[in-house]
Amino acid sequence: MSSDRASEDLTGFVFASIALVLVIVGVAVTAWLGGRANASSRTATVVRTSGAGATTSASSVSDVVAAGAHDYNQFACAQCHGIGGVGGVSADVPALDKLGTAFTVAQLRQIVEHGLGESANPTKPYMPVWHGIVSPRQVSELAAYIRAGLPPVSGATPVAVPTDQGLAVEGSALYVRDGCINCHGPNGLGGVPNPQSPDKTIPPLSGADFRNEFNTPAKIADVIRSGSVVGRAPIVSMPHWGGILTTADVNALIAYLATLQ
Ligand code: HEC
Ligand code: HEC
Repeated sequence: MSSDRASEDLTGFVFASIALVLVIVGVAVTAWLGGRANASSRTATVVRTSGAGATTSASSVSDVVAAGAHDYNQFACAQCHGIGGVGGVSADVPALDKLGTAFTVAQLRQIVEHGLGESANPTKPYMPVWHGIVSPRQVSELAAYIRAGLPPVSGATPVAVPTDQGLAVEGSALYVRDGCINCHGPNGLGGVPNPQSPDKTIPPLSGADFRNEFNTPAKIADVIRSGSVVGRAPIVSMPHWGGILTTADVNALIAYLATLQ
């Protein structure tokens, strides 16, 4: 309890410090812009602090770009392409931050909805098929965010993963951070449609059928690492996480799945 308080105090202090730095940067940027541009082309830097120092925002992007940054975290793009698209996660996953407007919106829509590189080499990660999972509007937001160079957006960060509260807790956070929840539903309950697949739905990760088929940790680890191509896009398939998720991540996910009904 007391160490929780201490870490809250520390977090508060860190946020306060970040807020101060942002205010200084904001003032400096505004002054700099004011010095070189006329009033009509000034950039507004909004610094907002609310709650117990919980949110600090320095926002100078459009709403659609900001929404794209949140989608980018929700759908785990950051887990493969890096936070802000800087890459560095795997040699097989390209960075996105230098793409700018190299791809048209239509090309980006095609890549997100239909995947890329899927069959080229089954031992390497490929770009998953998100058709029917990421909505058309969210794809537009993602395209705007990528074409804007993936700027930092307040609050658009992957969920924190506690590593000192047991493997199952770690796994439950990874289940959200790695985007499993988008396809397999909250608590692994399933029910997400996959109309073109034989089952018409993405399988649940709970219940008797799942437990009977995936009755050892090794079987679950195998499908997480290798993914599964149930067919060609627009059929949604299980992404390939080998080379992306560590053995510790996979073990934590399995520990979490074991807590489900
Ligand atoms: C499981 C890992 C993984 C996830 C999650 C993922 N990607 Fe990818 N992505 C890849 C890989 C691997 C490639 C390269 C495919 C190829 O060229 O064969 C790629 C390619 C791309 C490209 C083309 C880049 C280029 O320079 O050719 C774009 C754009 C892209 N991804 C956007 C996204 C977005 C947006 C999301 C989230 C909705 C996302 N990716 C999620 C692995 C991933
Ligand atoms: C883009 C959607 C998508 C995402 C994201 C996704 N999965 Fe899957 N997953 C699927 C589909 C579709 C299948 C069924 C594949 C098949 O039938 O061959 C599947 C199958 C599985 C299976 C085998 C269950 C079965 O009955 O076939 C496991 C275990 C699994 N996924 C775990 C995960 C975990 C853990 C994550 C996050 C790290 C994850 N999945 C992320 C779509 C997804």
